[in-house]
Amino acid sequence: MLKVDQLASGYGRIKALHQVSLEVKRGEIVALVGANGAGKTTLLKAIAGVQPVAQGRIFLDAAPIEKLLPHQRVKLGLVLVPEGRQIFAPLTVEDNLRVGAWTRADDRSDGDLERVFSYFPVLKEFRARLAGSLSGGQQQMLAVGRALMSRPKMLLLDEPSMGLAPLVFKQIISVLESIRQSGVTIFVVEQNVNAVLKIVDRAYVLEMGKITLQGTGNELLADTRVQAAYLGV
Ligand SMILES: Nc1ncnc2c1ncn2[C@@H]1O[C@H](COP(=O)(O)OP(=O)(O)O)[C@@H](O)[C@H]1O
Ligand SMILES: [Mg+2]
Repeated sequence: MLKVDQLASGYGRIKALHQVSLEVKRGEIVALVGANGAGKTTLLKAIAGVQPVAQGRIFLDAAPIEKLLPHQRVKLGLVLVPEGRQIFAPLTVEDNLRVGAWTRADDRSDGDLERVFSYFPVLKEFRARLAGSLSGGQQQMLAVGRALMSRPKMLLLDEPSMGLAPLVFKQIISVLESIRQSGVTIFVVEQNVNAVLKIVDRAYVLEMGKITLQGTGNELLADTRVQAAYLGV
């Protein structure tokens, strides 16, 4: 579904990604792990179209998308849940969710809203509250819910566990598994390496802008290099 081929990107003279290649197949949940500053956010932003690409190609369903604008990629079903959530704090929960449906021409967002509420019942309970008054975990649920409102084929998630208590993160992870079962492909960046490798099909390790390892979640959990660098073993 997604193919990144020899991608390079950076910030002025700083090169953040060097010839990154990876693939995510339809229906998979794939993780990208790596230390702070490895280039994970840069890669997700480049895929979403909000970070310029210096070299390389990005394909969605075999069609090149690296020249498309961010909203055109959203229309094709590729939706980013950014690092730090970036919800609209002064808007209500419901309005935040309805904003997520803006790329669609039809007006059937009520059904989508109910679907999001079925994944995250707390958002229904708090639908009239201001988003800024929610806890960190609820804001993350809102950010994922808002992305689902645009009916993505593929979700790109940047560190959904950031700042969350382990129990809250477990809830979000289990919803991600349900979302995947509903047919949405997932590519997730995580620093919580142990938890995420347990639930993904495959993962890539990014170090200083380069993919250095890849394998199934279990293969990487058993890899001594991964254990030493990311699992504190
Ligand atoms: N806006 C920016 N301007 C300059 N350098 C940046 C900017 N954002 C990120 N970088 C640099 O690019 C590299 C990769 O950053 P990033 O993609 O945010 O890594 P990660 O998400 O893995 O922590 C780092 O060296 C970082 O300092
Ligand atoms: Mg990051």
